[in-house]
Amino acid sequence: MQGLVIRMNVQVNKFYEELADYYHLIFEDWDSSIKRQAGVMNNLLIPETSGKPLRILDCACGIGTQSIGLAMLGHQVVASDLCEAAVLRARTEAQRRGLTVTFHVSDMTSLREVTDSGFDVVVAMDNALPHLSPGQLGQAAKAIASKLRSGGLFLANIRDYDALILERPRVQAPAFYGAPGNRRIVHQVWDWDAYAGEGSGHVLHVYITVESEEGWKSHHFVSTYRCLLRQELSEALSAAGFEDVRWLMPAETGSYQPMVWARLSPSSTLLGPN
Ligand SMILES: C[S@@+](CC[C@H](N)C(=O)[O-])C[C@H]1O[C@@H](n2cnc3c(N)ncnc32)[C@H](O)[C@@H]1O
Repeated sequence: MQGLVIRMNVQVNKFYEELADYYHLIFEDWDSSIKRQAGVMNNLLIPETSGKPLRILDCACGIGTQSIGLAMLGHQVVASDLCEAAVLRARTEAQRRGLTVTFHVSDMTSLREVTDSGFDVVVAMDNALPHLSPGQLGQAAKAIASKLRSGGLFLANIRDYDALILERPRVQAPAFYGAPGNRRIVHQVWDWDAYAGEGSGHVLHVYITVESEEGWKSHHFVSTYRCLLRQELSEALSAAGFEDVRWLMPAETGSYQPMVWARLSPSSTLLGPN
């Protein structure tokens, strides 16, 4: 007899609202990751710069991992995210580091609240795009195109769902961080059977178990990810007016996820997200 499968309708925004204060704990050392990821992106952006700082929009900034790193490298950064708690934290983290970054709460399917446009680069890093349904992905690609200058660049990285959809892993093995008295264990459970969204995907359980003077305490956060395949994203970008869409694999970039690099056609006539 088959076990009961409970399909979950999970609110992505609730996940990030709850996670905002804990998000940095997913990394062994968040500050090192901020610097490392900015370096990876900057290597790809250097050919665009001619020595000048770039105007960059980070449209899925979360708590600021990439926007802070890019601002530290001297770029002019505007950052937005759907999650208000994450944006508030990102603003605090940027101020704490003496950085000037303009933040907005904005859904990347419209980017309505981002009043600037003509950016040299838009980024959406660390698997933000697989939170979107196919329809939302098309809207986001158009909104991103509408914020770029002619010939501007879009950079995003996503998990390797082309491989993961076949492997269907059930856990991400625990990572042990910290020193005695201040340790933590971070692990994930991926429940493929509970996914209730469009196409294939999984419910994501993130567990952050933290040691303190009072003992160990486990925090549990639940979200959902759709398996966004590389071809679907390439097609959405082409439909939105990107003419040169390339996939760069981790061995080439140093990123831990495949990265899409796409240039908006100089002749793109898109004026807005819809
Ligand atoms: C895995 S997190 C990555 C955050 C950040 N880039 C980082 O690496 O720390 C994905 C982010 O995408 C954001 N997100 C999801 N759907 C969104 C949407 N429709 N518009 C804007 N942001 C969205 C979430 O709120 C979350 O902050």
